Amino acid sequence: MVTASHVLDRVLVLEMVRVTEAAAVAASKLVGRGNEKAADHAAVEAMREALNQLEFDGTVVIGEGERDEAPMLYIGEKVGAAQGSGPRIDIALDPLEGTTITAKAGPNALAVLAIAEEGCLLNAPDVYMDKLAVGPGYPEGVIDLDKSPAENVRAVAAAKGVDPAEIIVCVLDRPRHSALIAELRAVGCGIQLIPDGDVAGVIAVTDPDTTIDVYMGQGGAPEGVLAAAALRCVGGQFKGRLVFRNDAERGRAARWGVEDLDRIYDLNDLARGDVIFAATGVTDGSLLSGVKRRRNMVTTDSVVMRASTGTVRWVRGEHRHEPGARE
Ligand code: FBP
Repeated sequence: MVTASHVLDRVLVLEMVRVTEAAAVAASKLVGRGNEKAADHAAVEAMREALNQLEFDGTVVIGEGERDEAPMLYIGEKVGAAQGSGPRIDIALDPLEGTTITAKAGPNALAVLAIAEEGCLLNAPDVYMDKLAVGPGYPEGVIDLDKSPAENVRAVAAAKGVDPAEIIVCVLDRPRHSALIAELRAVGCGIQLIPDGDVAGVIAVTDPDTTIDVYMGQGGAPEGVLAAAALRCVGGQFKGRLVFRNDAERGRAARWGVEDLDRIYDLNDLARGDVIFAATGVTDGSLLSGVKRRRNMVTTDSVVMRASTGTVRWVRGEHRHEPGARE
């Protein structure tokens, strides 16, 4: 019997990059074309086709939406060429993280996915999540969602041995964050406001080159699971709490088995076990370069990480044929 972890180990690490490459290349043709839907559709189709070439029995647990609202890669969709016989794998995916970014040719659009053994990724409902993250090297518990933004900045500054004014916090630029931003301004810390793309925003806290120390604010819960999967591989701390704006959203949570609506989720609650995270840049960003076309060649920049070993592989692809087509 082939167990899931055996297959995660032997085959799937690099195969995951093929999948995100295919989605990124497909979306890249629509960078700057002002059409979010077309870009997303291209990425979804390419990712689905690439997943369906793999020898596993996969289930999408985080995808493009619920079955009635997403024709492809919906939550619960089975993917993979070995249904019923291959190892059972759960998949969290976002074929195009940053549809607006792509339409406007902005920075940090990614094709991204995480896989784990069955049952190891949180089936997060498509609601907002309050997110708080720091990179590796801090004492456990340095960040706390029950504390105020100012208290968290002061705690991170104290642990880092610097003044709170020297801390840089990354926040999605949204009207709903006006109180958060005002509180951070009062502390005097730096704020990097990003237009979209909080998977890259959260991962940025793990890379000293970005100079971002903390990620704060509300973004999509599915994106929270994807970011947590990456932090499981490279280290860091992440806290998330689902945000419900109405009864419809609370109902959605109940359908996905969320019982405690106020629960604070830790990294291991969101992505357990031997997780693999892969991403390919669609547009240039802090984590990865975007897809580039030169004469007859397409280049891609990807990263694939694995939680059980902490290995991070940076993969530059030179494709003489469009990836996604069978090679
Ligand atoms: P899309 O790719 O679905 O457009 O998501 C982009 C994104 O910025 C995410 O990174 C983030 O979690 C979410 O949107 C925030 O949602 P909203 O745009 O409603 O603030």
